[in-house]
Amino acid sequence: MGVTGNGRTNDVLWDKYSLIIKGQRVFIHSGEFHTFRLPVPGLWLDILQKVKAAGFNAISVYTHMALINPSPGVVDFNDYRALEPLYEAARQTGIWIVLRPGPYINAETTAGGIAHWITSEVAGELRTNATDWHAAWQDYVQGVIIETAPYQVTQGGPVIDNEYSQEPAMHAEYFHELETVYLNSSIVVPLTANDPGENQAWINGTGAVNIYGLDSYPQGFDCSNPDIWSPVVTNYYSYHEFVDPGQPWYFPEFQGGSFDAWGPTAPGYDQCRILTGANFENVFNLNLWASNAKLINYYMLYGGTSWGALPFPGVYTSYDYGSAIAENRELTVKYPELKRQGLFLRSSPDFYKTDWVGNSTGGMVFVSNPAAFVTLLRNPDSAASFYIARQGNSTTTDVTTFKLNVTTSAGSFEVPRFTSGITLEGRQSKIIITDYSFGLSSKVLYSTAQVLFAGQIGGRDILFLYGDPTSESEAALTLNGTPRIQGTGVSSVSSNGVTSVTFLPGIQGLITIWDSNEQLVLYSDTDTAGTFWSPEISADDSVEFANYWQFGTNTSILVGGPYLVRNATITESTLALRGDLNDSVQLTVIAPDDVKTVTWNGIPISLDVAAVSNLTIQGGFVAQLKPSSTVLGFAPPALTNWRYADSLPEIRSGFSDANWTLADHTTTNMPFKPYYGDGRVLYGCDYEYCENIVLWRGHFNATENTQSVNLSINGGEAFAATVWVNDVFLNTSYGNSTNDQNILEETDDKFYFPPGSLLYGQENVITILQDNMGLNESGSVIDEEKSPRGIRGFMLNTGEFGEWKVQGKIGGYTNYLDKVRGVLNEGGLYGERMGWHLPEFDTSSWALRSLSEGLPNAAAGVGFFITTFNLSIPDGFDVPMSFVFDNTSQPYRSQLYVNGWMMGKRVSNLGPQYQFPVQQGILDYNGTNTVAVALWAMEPTVVTPTLQLSIEGVYEGGVGGIETNNPPWSPEGRP
Ligand code: GAL
Repeated sequence: MGVTGNGRTNDVLWDKYSLIIKGQRVFIHSGEFHTFRLPVPGLWLDILQKVKAAGFNAISVYTHMALINPSPGVVDFNDYRALEPLYEAARQTGIWIVLRPGPYINAETTAGGIAHWITSEVAGELRTNATDWHAAWQDYVQGVIIETAPYQVTQGGPVIDNEYSQEPAMHAEYFHELETVYLNSSIVVPLTANDPGENQAWINGTGAVNIYGLDSYPQGFDCSNPDIWSPVVTNYYSYHEFVDPGQPWYFPEFQGGSFDAWGPTAPGYDQCRILTGANFENVFNLNLWASNAKLINYYMLYGGTSWGALPFPGVYTSYDYGSAIAENRELTVKYPELKRQGLFLRSSPDFYKTDWVGNSTGGMVFVSNPAAFVTLLRNPDSAASFYIARQGNSTTTDVTTFKLNVTTSAGSFEVPRFTSGITLEGRQSKIIITDYSFGLSSKVLYSTAQVLFAGQIGGRDILFLYGDPTSESEAALTLNGTPRIQGTGVSSVSSNGVTSVTFLPGIQGLITIWDSNEQLVLYSDTDTAGTFWSPEISADDSVEFANYWQFGTNTSILVGGPYLVRNATITESTLALRGDLNDSVQLTVIAPDDVKTVTWNGIPISLDVAAVSNLTIQGGFVAQLKPSSTVLGFAPPALTNWRYADSLPEIRSGFSDANWTLADHTTTNMPFKPYYGDGRVLYGCDYEYCENIVLWRGHFNATENTQSVNLSINGGEAFAATVWVNDVFLNTSYGNSTNDQNILEETDDKFYFPPGSLLYGQENVITILQDNMGLNESGSVIDEEKSPRGIRGFMLNTGEFGEWKVQGKIGGYTNYLDKVRGVLNEGGLYGERMGWHLPEFDTSSWALRSLSEGLPNAAAGVGFFITTFNLSIPDGFDVPMSFVFDNTSQPYRSQLYVNGWMMGKRVSNLGPQYQFPVQQGILDYNGTNTVAVALWAMEPTVVTPTLQLSIEGVYEGGVGGIETNNPPWSPEGRP
């Protein structure tokens, strides 16, 4: 089957093998990154540089409708909601973007990304052809089109709505309507969708997209037993052949980690990083490659933070996801394996066009030991072959050794020839290559060692192989010139122009195998290979796609040692490297021979001449790199001098709710109707209070017979609601979550009025303080996003309620005050309404009271604790920090505000999260910072929260130029 397109552009075409961008065959090697989960635009470049440095060429990005389209008619791409800075950073780094605007994105975010106002205002079923839903998404999609159209092709193109079934017809028609809007716009790049299972959705029929995509999470989302693996999926290829053989095989999402739920038994992200660790990446990613997939996106590569009201109820603030890049932007143990894979893919253009030939159970590949399972992919033009090996039982921890029959240009034979076998550790995969080209004219006949890098540097053909120190491997190469084999454990024999090199167990570090004027062959153990980088040398700016691998440039170098190499430029004879260091390392560079000096972050390095002569005869540099002494000098300031104020005046007598919203609706568009009451609908979102804490006040006259009130409160998994009558605490209703099990998203309780709590013959008030854990994602129940957060039932044992009043964030979703931090940042606590959480609010008249003392008199209630601290961290350092609460289970919930941003919800009785990373940019690294904790004590008992600032690492380098945008308190619009 030939090359085809969508008829709208020739810049992005495809055939059955891969995407073809601007005439070039491309393997889309991508990681998921949500800018809204890193609300500091200056840091997006940091993530993109880390993605690029792992050898990737693309990112996949969801945009968030609820943030961008906060109120009807408002489309807001300002501040962190902007796309332009992302597109510019991508252009600068040479990264393609697959944009996935939804409107529905799932993504473990509130309502799956659907704008909250829609959940109240749209009567028709969401994500169908209902006319009011159709009207509701127009502004947002048009906004995305306007922002994106000028950046197409340079930047990839939009994907439409996420994971959805094509049936019934009203789903398909909605997709068709969505596509029609793009087709009637200046968006010309292909459209695709994401099928969450092998449902064959959107391949044919109404709403079909250009390129089908399947997502797959073979390990699932419970990280409790991270050493227990699920088997690899074995039918990816046959499914693909069955459903869309004429298209390239696309995985818009493949498991790159896992989300984690509220406690008490939630395992936390460290466990997710084990469940989806380096050995998982090795076995499962290569299993995906073996299915001939040529567009792959790992979800997430950088997870980030679900700050404010971003989470859906099934996750907490951190969206670290156990990803290769941690929430605080540090590279984790998962990163080097991804980098080895990324550099291999970047080095292996023959891999972008392969036929799936067969596997060792189908009789097309022969292995000497049936415990090994091998799939053969072959390039039909060059005959380069890739034998992807794994354990037949993919979960086994046994070691398997086997031999493999290969078919090569030099005939068919069994490999290895000189060593005893190919070894697979438990949970390991390997690629055995044959007829593999490197550089301009060099060939590998076969190799059981793995390829880290293949290419040209300074006119020489360079190959970098690696293998485990526990096993042996061998490679047969066509080499010119004189060998320079070093080190014990390496030996070679030559015959018929082919040099066979064997590597015995025990090799550690980097060794030079061959070093001539034409070729350089290097070998190292797997870990050492993981310390190498291959920054590309961009073309100059006049070249189109100057920074895009394959397009603007095919030139790169090798740099071993540093924590991170962000980029490299060569000006005349100077190679300038930029990157990050947190430790002294040996720097090893392979560069073109005309490079005479190397600088690290602008400072010339001094050469270790002896080490260089061991490395290579040309273009090599070896030096010691040391971070400056400043690196050790940072200590986090203690958080002291807390000021305290009560934030629950609502329960005091004389409090007036006159300017609160009257909750008097008797109808709702939400399909989940009230259970009991008097016909009034008390759902926050129906009064524009769709997220975070909402307060309700129900007025009633009491008699001697008034004894109790029944309340059904809906707040979502893991919520809580505390209830008072007048100033008397009644009780707290707890929602539940135990690692997404035993979910209780609403409660139904009877609250008894203690003696003396009521005023007979007078007005009394029930005050309900409830959290809203986010709106549900789309699920099996129709319109679950329209979550009825609020009071679903209210009934006194006798008598009726008078007025019900409700208060959430000031202004609701149409007139909320904080346009920079956006609609999801604050809620309705008194302190939030007054803006106490914002920088520069004057607390000098407040009492001094330490956070660890909790609320006065061991009362249940809410108080704000505020303090400031200074930071002074010089430019040129990346210093990730987090705020760390006590790791105890106590009956308190708290909201952490840093310079006005709600960066954490701590639920002490559930956990698991007690540590909250906060990025530079939210934190002012050269100034005064304000931290506010809204403490909600849920029981009349002493709680003793503690909070510390912790420095998690000090990296000399960093991306630089991080701006802060933290608008201070102002009285305007505040009560
Ligand atoms: C996918 C979905 C993503 C995310 C993921 C789990 O099916 O498309 O948005 O929810 O599951 O993290």
